[in-house]
Amino acid sequence: MRSVYCGGLNASNIDQEVTLCGWVDRRRDHGGVIFIDLRDRDGIVQVVFDPDGEENFALADKVRPEYVLQVTGKVRARSESTVNRNMPTGEIEVYGTQLQILNTAETPPFQLDAYTNVGEDVRLTYRYLDLRRKDMQRNLVMRSKITSAIRNYLDANGFLDIETPILTRATPEGARDYLVPSRTQEGKFFALPQSPQLFKQLLMVSGFDRYYQIAKCFRDEDLRADRQPEFTQIDLETSFLNEDEIMSITENMIRKVFKDLLNIEFGEFPRMPYSEAMEKYGSDKPDLRIPLEMIEIKDLMKDVEFKVFSGPANDPKGRVTAMKVPKGGEIPRRTIDAYTKFVGIYGAKGLAYIKVNDKDDLEEGLQSPIVKFLPLDVRKAILERVGAENGDLIFFGADSYKVVSEALGALRCKLGEDLNLYTCEWAPLWVVDFPMFEETSDGGLTALHHPFTAPSCSPEELQANPATALSRAYDMVLNGTELGGGSIRIHNQDMQQAVFRVLGISEEEQREKFGFLLDALQYGAPPHGGLAFGLDRLVMLMVGADSIRDVIAFPKTQTAACVMTDAPGDVDKKQLDELHIRLKAKPQPAASEK
Ligand code: AMO
Ligand code: AMP
Repeated sequence: MRSVYCGGLNASNIDQEVTLCGWVDRRRDHGGVIFIDLRDRDGIVQVVFDPDGEENFALADKVRPEYVLQVTGKVRARSESTVNRNMPTGEIEVYGTQLQILNTAETPPFQLDAYTNVGEDVRLTYRYLDLRRKDMQRNLVMRSKITSAIRNYLDANGFLDIETPILTRATPEGARDYLVPSRTQEGKFFALPQSPQLFKQLLMVSGFDRYYQIAKCFRDEDLRADRQPEFTQIDLETSFLNEDEIMSITENMIRKVFKDLLNIEFGEFPRMPYSEAMEKYGSDKPDLRIPLEMIEIKDLMKDVEFKVFSGPANDPKGRVTAMKVPKGGEIPRRTIDAYTKFVGIYGAKGLAYIKVNDKDDLEEGLQSPIVKFLPLDVRKAILERVGAENGDLIFFGADSYKVVSEALGALRCKLGEDLNLYTCEWAPLWVVDFPMFEETSDGGLTALHHPFTAPSCSPEELQANPATALSRAYDMVLNGTELGGGSIRIHNQDMQQAVFRVLGISEEEQREKFGFLLDALQYGAPPHGGLAFGLDRLVMLMVGADSIRDVIAFPKTQTAACVMTDAPGDVDKKQLDELHIRLKAKPQPAASEK
């Protein structure tokens, strides 16, 4: 029906006859001449109808925004005074000689060229219209180009694209499962995969050597800007490669994608041990664009009278730390109050600070609600340790290691954004040497990555000192976002069982849940390892979107629902009966709530 895309036209097409198909972006009536901005996925071009073409002109007069048109016409140069330099097709226009209205359209519920005041619920209810907007079109086109570049890279490097099941058993990646009831086996459920982890490991046992998949994953977890219940991984696995080789292949992949699509050159990615990331940045995904660091002052606070500081300083699980904001002295009191509230979200009970007005006057030169509790020698030692200059602001955190790290780590990122402290546009790195396990709130241990990650020690050492054991895992971080993570896997049964034992998974449960894996490890499993990137997050960063919802065609809302299709929805009784499911009666609201 068309000869060329609207956005593809330019001065080289002058005098050509073209046929365009697209949507009416705007229609203007300029004293007897009608201008229609016609839009397709490539861009917008101006089409002109004048009264000479009577029938067309009358039709053009009826056209409204978002009508679907087919237009044939001649490309001509615009007069010098009407050239629009802001528009890629601004040098030309199409003089319409034939017009057909292919479909009419209701007035859209929101303007498609601007969305500042459009609520996300409205955008998502009419997602098919929202996706007509330029930004959304650009994001999804970019997403397609990114996956295509990745496929090309992996194909060229010998990776095979192999699909794994969606109806499967639970794969522990730390989130809740989405369950699907079985009709044919009463009372049993499939789980949707949280990742293809176990299947890709089994593919290595089968000898495929290098696997990849652009894989849908499902996790029922609390949603945030960079989390969706249904998301996409670039999932890969390799045999006979060590962590350096895997990191090198995947680092090159990311480097190539950025170079090819954004013309951005990354150098070699620095590597940082997990312990350093936590100490300096309070996070295992540090944003290295921000030049602020947390500095330990636990030793200085052990004997001070101020219990808020001396308590955690004397607690092995406590943390006391300072973070200097150069020239932060100008931050007004009400902003500090807002930051105090902000760190409260992470459990911090306060946010002590010192404004350094005159670092040589320890009595009068320090403005702070806590300095009165600190002896002069401690004040001096703090200033020296953080390298304070006049005009600086120092924030303090004192609490459990977890609370201080999370609170000041988040404050660091907020300060980076609020004060625009970024020293560069892109800061990729690898975080390595993760602990194998982390403590749960009830004092048990859980796998920091997943329980198939190989430790850097023997099974005996692992069982003797599980809390301090490190793993052979690596995460790729970009601008404070965890882009991907992976590890060398356990490829022998003894080690796998040792890990399960540390995690408190009984022999029966091991067999019940992972018997197939334990069996497979006994049939010549090769040393193997891999990694998975979050495709949505990669695209989000590459297009500069604030949320992964802006790079997913049909995302879920914050409450994990689709407002457009109204999913999840009710099902009728017959379907439930077939699935052997009876719903619990919904609790009736109390009379007073009615
Ligand atoms: P992991 O759980 O770290 O590892 O996931 C890998 C990457 O997937 C992305 N991601 C998400 N993206 C959007 N929404 C979510 N809810 C979400 N959860 C995770 C992140 C993350 O880095 N099987 C292992 C990988 C491996 O060891 O090979 C795994 O799934 O970018
Ligand atoms: P208070 O004695 O509770 O009034 O606190 C004095 C100062 O210390 C205030 O500026 C608080 O914001 C700050 N503060 C209180 N608890 C903490 C904490 N756990 N970590 C850091 N600062 C705190």
